[in-house]
Amino acid sequence: MLDLVKTETSSAERYDLYGVIHRGLRKAEMELLSRLGAVDPSDGAAVAAVISDFHRLLVLARHHVVDENEYVHTALEARKPGASAGLAEDHAGHEASFVEMERMVARLEAAPASRRKPIVRALYHRTSDFVAHDFAHMLEEETVIQPLLQDLFTDEELRAIEGRIVASIPLPVMLDFTKIMIQAIDPQARLEMLSGMMAEMPAEAFHAVLGYSVKPVLTGAEWDWLDAGLRQSR
Ligand SMILES: [Fe+2]
Repeated sequence: MLDLVKTETSSAERYDLYGVIHRGLRKAEMELLSRLGAVDPSDGAAVAAVISDFHRLLVLARHHVVDENEYVHTALEARKPGASAGLAEDHAGHEASFVEMERMVARLEAAPASRRKPIVRALYHRTSDFVAHDFAHMLEEETVIQPLLQDLFTDEELRAIEGRIVASIPLPVMLDFTKIMIQAIDPQARLEMLSGMMAEMPAEAFHAVLGYSVKPVLTGAEWDWLDAGLRQSR
């Protein structure tokens, strides 16, 4: 059995490629699943709202898989051939899940109110299966692959890999990614992430991030603390 405390202690000082985005994805997946479990199938507006958020999360989940394949696995293979084979297999399984869940969502969208109940139930179960697999997969990435990456790459190199991923993401998708991450991480981690973004992004884009992805999802006190910190780091 993996000693998680030992793993965390030895990798805590190093650059963390997965921690923040995985927290965001876990929270978003858990919330979507619990909303699906509680939605009233006869309430058209409520079902439409869950479907809309389902599509948004699928966009993020797909980007995440494709970006890991393209930027992380490619780098890993260059230094340790074969090291990403298991992850690639998981990612192919994720893509199959996305296609299947999309088909079910399309059936739900097209169904009259009287036929929605079994489709919602089936989608709930299919989503729970995806979430279970994704949680196991993300844990492996953070506790097995991350120490391997830290052995093979310097923190500067890991930071550069993440920089290439961030630069490849279109702004509207980045806004949604930031929104799920901000809600899932502690105040200090929020300040660190946003200070980094403030230094890298054009002022207008950073302003959009604060207005769309940050301020609306925090309490007044959380926002005030963060805003004061950002002003100091300017
Ligand atoms: Fe992954």
